Amino acid sequence: MKKLPRQIQDIIEPQMVVEGAGVLLRRSFGPHSSNLFDPFLLFDHFAFNKPRQGEPVGFPTHPHRGIETVTYMLDGNVRHRDSLGNMGVIGPGAVQWMTSGRGILHEEMPRRGPTGAINGFQLWVNLPAAQKMSAPRYQEVNSETIPLVTQNGVSVRVVAGEYAGARGPVTEIAAQPLYMDVTLAPNTQFELPTPRGHFVIAYIFEGEGAFGIDDAQGGEWVPSTQMLVFQDGDSVRAQTGSAAPARFMLMAGAPFREPIFPYGPFVMNTREEIMQTLAEIRAGTFVSNARAE
Ligand code: FE2
Repeated sequence: MKKLPRQIQDIIEPQMVVEGAGVLLRRSFGPHSSNLFDPFLLFDHFAFNKPRQGEPVGFPTHPHRGIETVTYMLDGNVRHRDSLGNMGVIGPGAVQWMTSGRGILHEEMPRRGPTGAINGFQLWVNLPAAQKMSAPRYQEVNSETIPLVTQNGVSVRVVAGEYAGARGPVTEIAAQPLYMDVTLAPNTQFELPTPRGHFVIAYIFEGEGAFGIDDAQGGEWVPSTQMLVFQDGDSVRAQTGSAAPARFMLMAGAPFREPIFPYGPFVMNTREEIMQTLAEIRAGTFVSNARAE
């Protein structure tokens, strides 16, 4: 079968939203029963970079169930603490891949870096029905542990998946994800094979690039900051012109094709499972139930 480079299906302009205790975010998409981004549920870009806005207030203690949250920082950091006794700081270049499974209660507090900026992303990845009530699990990877591949004008930090023989340190995730931070110098071509049937998105946040390139045409120019959704195909291609570099997060995963019922920080498969979760929260048993083996 002829190899098919993926075409652009949709370009999404992120919308400013306020979450937590008043945190300003650029949201490309959020959890919805239509499940259009399967296996992904949400993509937020921390974007409160005006120092006069003061310290961001962050996300005080809140629960999650049925999902994975992926926090990747470029600048500034996020302090976190949870009901299992974990605490730490996700610094620049680091990633936290948190599998909430049946339950986690945590707080996430972004702090400005030396430049005064906070720049980073949070992706929510769905769990299949069979793993929604699994034990919570963390994969925290510091900046030095993430492989950086640099060749022919392409620089790729590989968090999950594989690029040019480098494997990302985050593994054993149900969605079989690919999660990479890609920088292209001017006049650079990039191509990455992606499995047929997997869902692929790219969030361009610096510079501009052409995407949706195939053998017949040069694709469409996309300036930052936007979310690209790709059609099915065998690879993702991107290219920069002479004027500007481009930097984007490239994400792919295998869809679960299951119905979802999202409610705030929980994403289950049915309304009954959400009602059960809310009953546990009300009864104060959410955390102890989550801990029980
Ligand atoms: Fe959270």
